[in-house]
This record gives sequence, structure tokens and C-alpha cells, in this order.
Amino acid sequence: MKKRDFLKTGSILALGALVAPLVSCGGEKDIKNDPPKTDDPQPNANTQVDPSFKLPELGYKFDALAPNIDAETVEIHYTKHHAGYVKKLNAALKGNAKFKTNDLAAIMAQVGKDDTAVRNNGGGHFNHSLYWDIMGAPKSDNQPTGDLAEALNKQFGSWDGFKEQFSKAAKTRFGSGWAWLSVNDKKELFISSTPNQDNPLMKNLVAENGQPILGIDVWEHAYYLNYQNMRGDYISGFFDLIQWDKVAASYKALVG
Ligand SMILES: [Fe+2]
Repeated sequence: MKKRDFLKTGSILALGALVAPLVSCGGEKDIKNDPPKTDDPQPNANTQVDPSFKLPELGYKFDALAPNIDAETVEIHYTKHHAGYVKKLNAALKGNAKFKTNDLAAIMAQVGKDDTAVRNNGGGHFNHSLYWDIMGAPKSDNQPTGDLAEALNKQFGSWDGFKEQFSKAAKTRFGSGWAWLSVNDKKELFISSTPNQDNPLMKNLVAENGQPILGIDVWEHAYYLNYQNMRGDYISGFFDLIQWDKVAASYKALVG
């Protein structure tokens, strides 16, 4: 499929609004939400940024997702894996001549196949920030409503059609990776999966470029303590955790 150059300025700003609280740099001027005043020192194209990305607040207790995702898995995943990506991302960006921004969405759009450390750890930080944010306490009969529900029906035939296709993308991702629901440059929803810590923002690396509004981590570290090799059971449980109001708000911000 033809690659799409989706991340125009407006799209980056929209995504920034979606995840800014999660991925902005602590201690640095937030360039998305707090543009410099005219009398502030202006960014110079030759100036290195000194990124200091922080692990975002989880927003709930480690046991909040139980029993669908157990507390020990959440604690290790968040405090060890996600924290590790943040630390290694900062190390990879320090003194890096290519990336002259501390906007993580812009970094994702710029990353290429040779930027191994930024690709893996920047993706790791972005992906996990979205993942934690769109989950919450389990709810039965957990489905979206309104415009997002209509769009899912239109694109995938029905709620069951969406659930089946999203589940298939997650189940069939070989090895470690993610499955996504994203919005493309035509404001259409699409489902995709990516290996390792890649994501649909990485326009230089993915077949389908867009802005993810929902993502599931299918690395074994996300489920193995509780589910062992039963990835399908973890995926089924994930559907009860999705905070559809947040996903719908992201969708609305992108399509109007
Ligand atoms: Fe993970």
C-alpha cells in the first residue's frame, strides 16, 4: 500500500493535544502548548534540544485493571519497561544531531530505519503512554457510542466486525508488537499492526500512516504472568478495559 504523508502540522498539533500530558518534556518549555513569546529566545535550527521526557502519571492504581490485567503485570510493565524506554530515549536524544525537537509526535514522523535507539525507545514511550491512557477499570458491554460507533460500523461493517478485525491484527502479529486503530489523512479509520515498538506515526517505516487512537501491546511482557501463551484471552479481556470516551474524544479531535 502506498505510504501516506499524513503528519502535516495540524495533525501533529492535534496529536499533541491528545497525548501532550503524557509525552511532554518535564522541565522544558512545552513547544506545543506554550509557544515562545516574541521576546523569548527563539529556537535555532542549529541548537540541540536537551530532552527530558518523563514517565507520565499512570492515573490509576496497579490493581485497577484487574482481573483482566493483574497488578503485578501493570507494576512491572509501567515501572520497569515503560520507565526504561523513557530513560533510554533521553539518552538516545542527548547530543543527537538529527532530532532538533522535543515534540515526540514530530520525532516519530522523522524517525528512519537507521535511528534504532530513537525508533525503539521513542516508540516505546509513545505507545505505552497511549496504552495506559485509554485503559481503565473493566466494564461489561463496553462499546463506543455516537460518531465513533457510527464510523466503526461504516468502516468495519459492525461492532463485531471491528472487534474481529482488531483482534485478528493483535493475535496474528508475529513475535512482539502492537495492534492499532488509527485515523488516516482521509479521516478514515483503519486497523494495522506493527512490530516491536513501531507505530503508525512512523511514516518512513510503516505501510499505513496515521494517528493511532487505540493500541494494544502484544509483547509477552504485557500479559504473560497471567495468561502465559494465551494471547487471545488477554486480547478479549482488553476490550473490557477500553475507555471509549477517551478514544471517541481523540477521534473527534482528528475528524471534527
Ligand atoms: Fe509493553
